[in-house]
Amino acid sequence: MTLVETAAKKLAILVVDDELIVRESLGAWFREDGYKVDTAENARDALRLSAEGRYDVAFLDIKMPGIDGLELQAKLRESVPDLAVVVMTAYASVDSAVRALKAGAQDYIVKPFDPEQLSALLRRIEETRALRSENVRLKSALDRAAAPPIIGDSPAMRRVLEVIASVARTDATVLIHGESGTGKELVARAIHQQSARRYNPLVAVHCGALAEGILESELFGHEKGAFTGAAYHHKGKFEQADGGTVFLDEIGEISPKVQVELLRVLEEKRVTRVGGKSSIPVDFRVIAATHRDLRALAKAGEFREDLFWRLDVVSVEIPPLRDRREDIPLLARHFTEQLGRSMNRKNLRITPEALEALKECDWPGNVRELQNAIERAIVLGRKDVIDAKDLPTRPAGGAPAASARSLQELERAHIRKTLDETNWNITHAAAILEVDRGTLYNKIRKYELAKPGHVA
Ligand SMILES: Nc1ncnc2c1ncn2[C@@H]1O[C@H](COP(=O)(O)OP(=O)(O)OP(=O)(O)O)[C@@H](O)[C@H]1O
Ligand SMILES: [Mg+2]
Repeated sequence: MTLVETAAKKLAILVVDDELIVRESLGAWFREDGYKVDTAENARDALRLSAEGRYDVAFLDIKMPGIDGLELQAKLRESVPDLAVVVMTAYASVDSAVRALKAGAQDYIVKPFDPEQLSALLRRIEETRALRSENVRLKSALDRAAAPPIIGDSPAMRRVLEVIASVARTDATVLIHGESGTGKELVARAIHQQSARRYNPLVAVHCGALAEGILESELFGHEKGAFTGAAYHHKGKFEQADGGTVFLDEIGEISPKVQVELLRVLEEKRVTRVGGKSSIPVDFRVIAATHRDLRALAKAGEFREDLFWRLDVVSVEIPPLRDRREDIPLLARHFTEQLGRSMNRKNLRITPEALEALKECDWPGNVRELQNAIERAIVLGRKDVIDAKDLPTRPAGGAPAASARSLQELERAHIRKTLDETNWNITHAAAILEVDRGTLYNKIRKYELAKPGHVA
């Protein structure tokens, strides 16, 4: 099916001309083509008709007594902004036609008309409209796909959601603070997705993971020959994000030198590539995140205070999960459903007892740790029901709520046991654990497991 065919609805047309013969001949021709047509002999009637019905296209005579076609065009478009206007003129008076086009008319035609040309014109309008609505549809599908939901109904999370919604409408710099795994990156993505910049890139930089020199060239780019090995020029993240958003994760980790450079970029909205001579203007919005108390660091002189104030225009505080326990069951159900869907296990569910047990946990690794725990329960469990005993909330011996370390220890122990039972047959063990062999190898490396008798 073509796009034009998907625009099932035929256009509704309004013809406005003071000459009866024009109204009647255009009306007859369009109706023959299957369009719905109304006619008016002056602007007043046209406005009345337009107030009552919805038109997609208006054919307006430019020269009419009283309100002329150009003025009528402006008035009609006030109430129907997406009305397609075609002006008609008996004289090939180009400048009134040009004025109409400048004011947003789709096209103009010169009397006497060639009927075939009129039909072609309407088909073109139909096509543009179909494309436009297809675009709107694709864009909203894109929006939905790109923005994972933020789950949470606690007062604290509601506040976070409110700040996201209001700050997304601005270009203000945002500083997100929260412990590891609380959803800082998720919030940054939501702000970008809800902002006018959403069709431009969101570029994330994990500042903590990079050495100073590399971070500089990552952020600001470098020119060819800026340093040994710089064989080509390289666009930095700020340039890559032009028109979009730069997400500076773990901003508390950047060195004093990079702090100075970043401050300058934020102030000037221009970047100078490493080894470059001139600065390049860029259009970006900054969202920064940190798990550290940046204000305290700034006070203590460990982070530039001027940079802190530049970043902390709007602050978002995401509380740790243990301070909003009412979100735990919502999140747990959400992850169960989500993982169930992605693993094609539609009947997966989690028992109320399991939810209660999860609520008792302190979750030092916050939402990420909870998500991992659910995933593990699903992967390691055999049934479609996740019960309290499938969750590493109460380690053997009835010890109090598990810490991040003991969760991992539990996984480690489980894997080791399975490996020992299968005599380290990786394929067999992976099958029992219902993970692929690559994942199992990664876990073995991560937990530094070794076959008894072997030196790791
Ligand atoms: N409120 C929430 N609703 C749904 N999913 C969430 C929520 N908060 C966090 N998550 C999920 O938890 C995981 C961790 O979130 P994210 O990476 O945003 O945390 P973070 O604060 O950036 O962590 P870190 O400091 O370790 O980088 C992600 O998979 C994210 O989708
Ligand atoms: Mg993060």
